Amino acid sequence: MSPFSPQLEARFRELMQRYPARRSALVPMLLYAQDELGWLTPAAVQRIAELLAETELAVREVIGYYSMLRTEPTGKYHVQVCTNISCLLRGGDELYAHCERRLGVGHKQTAADGVFSLEEVECIGACSWAPAVQVNYDFHQELTVEQLDKILDAYAARARGERTDS
Ligand code: FES
Repeated sequence: MSPFSPQLEARFRELMQRYPARRSALVPMLLYAQDELGWLTPAAVQRIAELLAETELAVREVIGYYSMLRTEPTGKYHVQVCTNISCLLRGGDELYAHCERRLGVGHKQTAADGVFSLEEVECIGACSWAPAVQVNYDFHQELTVEQLDKILDAYAARARGERTDS
C-alpha cells in the first residue's frame, strides 16, 4: 500500500513521464514526498524506489547527498541557521546560539512540543543578505537576534492557530 495520497501518486506518474530517463524525477519526487509526509519515511523510500525501478540503496544515496532531504521527523517549523563564512562574519553563530537557548534544542533536534526543530547548516545561497535563516521554505535575511525573535514568535503563534501578518 502506498504511503502517499492518490493526488501525489498521480503527480508522480506525471513527473516520471516528463523526463526521458525516469530516474530524473527522483529529486522532485523526494521533495514532494517530504512535503506531504514531513520526512522521508522508510515506506516512502521503498515506494519511490519501486516506482522508479531503482534499489532503495540508490534512493538513499541521493537522499544522503542533499541536506534538505530528511530521514528523521522534524518539528512543524524546521529552523535552519546558516553559520557558513558570510553569515558567520555577520553574526550567524549568535543567531544559532540564540536559537539553541530559546528553543531548548541543539543541532538536528526537535523540541518536545514538536513545534520547532533546529539545524545548523552550510550556505543556503543567501550570502549577500547574511546572516540568513531558513524556516521550512521561507528565507529570512539580514537578521538580528531581535528580528529573529519576532519571526519565531510569529511561527509559534501560527502553530497555536493564531493569525499573524507574516
Ligand atoms: S554563507 Fe550563509 S547564506 Fe551563504
